Amino acid sequence: MIYFLGIESSCDETAAAVFTSSRTILSNVVATQTELHTPFGGVVPEIAARAHLRQLIPTIDLALKKANIELSQLGAVAVNYKPGLAGALLMGVSCARTLALILNIPLIGVNHLEAHIYACRLSAGRDIFPCIGLVVSGGHTALFDCQTPLQMKRIGSTRDDAAGEAFDKIAAVLGLGFPGGPAVEREAAQGDVNAYAFPRSFLKEDRLEFSFSGLKTAVIYSIYGQGKVAGPPPGPGKFRADIAASFQQAVIDVLVTKCQQALKKNKQTRLAVGGGVIANRALRNALQTMTDRNGFELFIPPMNLCTDNAAMAALAIEKWEKNNFSPLDLDIEPNS
Ligand code: KG4
Ligand code: ZN
Repeated sequence: MIYFLGIESSCDETAAAVFTSSRTILSNVVATQTELHTPFGGVVPEIAARAHLRQLIPTIDLALKKANIELSQLGAVAVNYKPGLAGALLMGVSCARTLALILNIPLIGVNHLEAHIYACRLSAGRDIFPCIGLVVSGGHTALFDCQTPLQMKRIGSTRDDAAGEAFDKIAAVLGLGFPGGPAVEREAAQGDVNAYAFPRSFLKEDRLEFSFSGLKTAVIYSIYGQGKVAGPPPGPGKFRADIAASFQQAVIDVLVTKCQQALKKNKQTRLAVGGGVIANRALRNALQTMTDRNGFELFIPPMNLCTDNAAMAALAIEKWEKNNFSPLDLDIEPNS
């Protein structure tokens, strides 16, 4: 049994975790930067990178302390090296490379999106493969056909906005603040999901693609008037709640339908989901209803393993078992 240190810095969470080669999570520390980005209404890449630089070492120290181990006891370093914000990724990867070098232990780079899906394996405590994986966050909306933990093939992506990004933008135009997802969900709970018939892109089509920009525009026109893209946000009340509810339902319908299509198309029976948008209760319920109706199995990790964290870098254990290590000059891959 060896101890792994996991590092995550792809966006606006500085995270470190300690886990064992038998997949026990000993600590999982996340230093969030939300407060730093809130005044700007979204994540500012330069601010994120600088905050990672400040927070990485204290976060790693805390993760080691909580796991009750010393740096010298580590047997491997795992790091999410793609995809993400370049400057942000660079901080985590540089730190991981340095630790692997000075401790003379293997460095293992993992794909952040695949790690989100692997979080389901961690929380399930048993094999979940083969499965379809869905990652829905502020930066990504992607479907994967996962034959094994090390064979995850992307089978669907968004053409424009990520689902979480759409939540954040609609929250902004509704005057609900940042981060938008939880605020839209609260507002939607008071509204009528059928009040507005917002577009659901590619819903009836066979292809596993997403697009949320048409939906975003339709919502904005409903608020300010046809063809108008700016104006004062609506105040509290039925109008705002109905818009939020109808928008949220459109996103949910698309996500759930595409998961169902992916499962059927790829002859899979298990669905593993992750990413911040999975915090949305209405989405979770809709996914549960769809999987129950079809006799599929749904894997949803607890929230601390759903949003960005470093324990999900435990995907590195699968690579370690196969001696699949990364070179010490491992580079970031922001766009892949
Ligand atoms: O995975 P995550 O914590 O960070 C990355 O983007 O990588 O996801 C954050 C995203 C944000 O866009 C946020 O608005 C969205 O997840 N989100 C939600 C909810 N909670 C967070 N979206 C819908 N409903 C929620 N309850
Ligand atoms: Zn993420």
